[in-house]
Amino acid sequence: MIFVQGLLSFYGLPLSQSAVEVTTSPAPPPVANGAKYELNTLPVDEKAVADGDTVTVYVSTLTPREAACVPQAVQVAAVERAKARAQRNYTKADALHKQIIDAGYRMLNIHNEEILARKYRIRLRGIDAPESSMPYGKEAKEELIRLVVGKSLKVLIFDEDRYGRCVGDIYCNGVFVQERMLKKGLVWHYGAYDKRPELEKWEKDARDKRIGLWASANPEKPWEWRKNRREQR
Ligand SMILES: *[C@@H]1O[C@H](CO)[C@@H](O)[C@H](O)[C@H]1NC(C)=O
Repeated sequence: MIFVQGLLSFYGLPLSQSAVEVTTSPAPPPVANGAKYELNTLPVDEKAVADGDTVTVYVSTLTPREAACVPQAVQVAAVERAKARAQRNYTKADALHKQIIDAGYRMLNIHNEEILARKYRIRLRGIDAPESSMPYGKEAKEELIRLVVGKSLKVLIFDEDRYGRCVGDIYCNGVFVQERMLKKGLVWHYGAYDKRPELEKWEKDARDKRIGLWASANPEKPWEWRKNRREQR
């Protein structure tokens, strides 16, 4: 019940209130490198890494930016789920959790505390990893897992792609993840979408040393591989 009370007092909500007024928050502070906004994530789950350039992350709704925009239906479902769990009605609790998940949120148990968190799919900006069935696709995914799983990430979001993913730079304990992936020769610099000279250089250094996928004389570009597959269909 501590969670329910905490959530209610946090949102200043008596549950009977029918409409929560969404106040316009003040302009966000400027973010480094011209990013639109910054996310600080909860620890990343292993299953969250899809491949070498895509990861799903969750941000606590107790952070001010998220707190301001939790849909009321999600707030109510979270409170009702906590009640159902307290009553050991897990069928009802699971149905409520499904509602929360369908709305792009999830309850996460972090250090024995139930936290309502918002989901973001992140496409790592400026790199392209080999697809899973291409050489080094598996290695790229494994390296990304090794870098981020169990860690809280800082993600600078610049854009959204046509699949609704957030395009961003990921930092993990001060390590710039794209830099690490490029230097290990596990991903390509995505030059068509990203003109940063440092990323170009990190790819070139790995190529010159024939590290990772550059051990092959003529590795297939992931974007050409995808294009060929689309044309064959
Ligand atoms: C669980 O909740 C549902 C829906 O509110 C209700 O129909 C059901 O009787 C409850 N089950 C138990 C064991 O309390």
